Amino acid sequence: MIVTTNELFRLAYGSYALGAYNINNLEQTVGLFRGNLGKSQKNEEKANPATSAPFIIQISRGARSYSDKRFLEAIIRTAEGVFPEAIFAVHLDHGTEEVCYDCIESGFYSSVMIDASHESFEKNIEITRRVVDRAHAKAVVVEAELGQLGGVEEDVVGSVCLTDPAQAAEFVQRTGCDSLAVAIGTSHGAYKFSGTQGLRLDRLAEIQRVVPPRFPLVMHGSSSVPKEWVDRINAAGGKLKNASGVSEAQYLPASKLGVCKINIDTDGRLVWCATLREAFRDKPEDFDLRTSGKVFMVNYAQYITHKNQMLGSAGQLEAVRAALKKT
Ligand code: 13P
Repeated sequence: MIVTTNELFRLAYGSYALGAYNINNLEQTVGLFRGNLGKSQKNEEKANPATSAPFIIQISRGARSYSDKRFLEAIIRTAEGVFPEAIFAVHLDHGTEEVCYDCIESGFYSSVMIDASHESFEKNIEITRRVVDRAHAKAVVVEAELGQLGGVEEDVVGSVCLTDPAQAAEFVQRTGCDSLAVAIGTSHGAYKFSGTQGLRLDRLAEIQRVVPPRFPLVMHGSSSVPKEWVDRINAAGGKLKNASGVSEAQYLPASKLGVCKINIDTDGRLVWCATLREAFRDKPEDFDLRTSGKVFMVNYAQYITHKNQMLGSAGQLEAVRAALKKT
């Protein structure tokens, strides 16, 4: 069942965060659904209530243009039929104004992100307000961004600029956005910190104090870049030096400070890269794409199940279903 991110945020606020996972293809989609239903093994029939989680599927502009945006929509619609017990939102990640309008009009996306964070404060407000008006007219909710992360997202290379709490309060009030992505020291990609964690939970607490009560905040650039997967990539011929991510131990403290959505893309790529490198290293005579594809779906599902446990969303699916039925 596709719902809006805000229906999920309302139930999660202050106690856990939803995983927002980027997808690009069929194998990621299948692994994602299985992992969120606790079906980590290939042919597991029944969802495991102890690990089942509501979740957010993120589609970036790059994913939409990888082949044709209609493929991803068809894959997700099919997954919805194959896994009828799943509850999830379909969200555009880092949209421009034009792409937001395309998604709003499509009738498929329940949530869009307008990212005008590279613009001036006033221009960001102006653009976000326009998108909010168009989205709300179609019952689509809007995530906006204020402040800038480091790293590369789509074609934009960010230089870090933490979110200013006073500006955040004004921005939320003037734009009418439904959730706000804040810059608190994370960055996109596999190289987030040199040395210690640079996450600014103190800044997050200040932002939470000034935005309206229970207003959902979003953390981008939150892959943990697990050492296990980086080591496996390097052992199979990769060259990822000094990769580092957000400590998973920070997810729950961040959720207590109003973070309802935690964005994870890089980790999925690492799982994919390790799986394929190992498959071709270990069976050099094999050229069947399904051999590594099957292993990837299992690996990714297990990874997602683990991630949801760290986010606190694992085991919440039935409570969410019951709460949605009442509304
Ligand atoms: P990561 O690069 O840390 O996975 O962040 C992804 C993201 O924030 C997508 O919007």
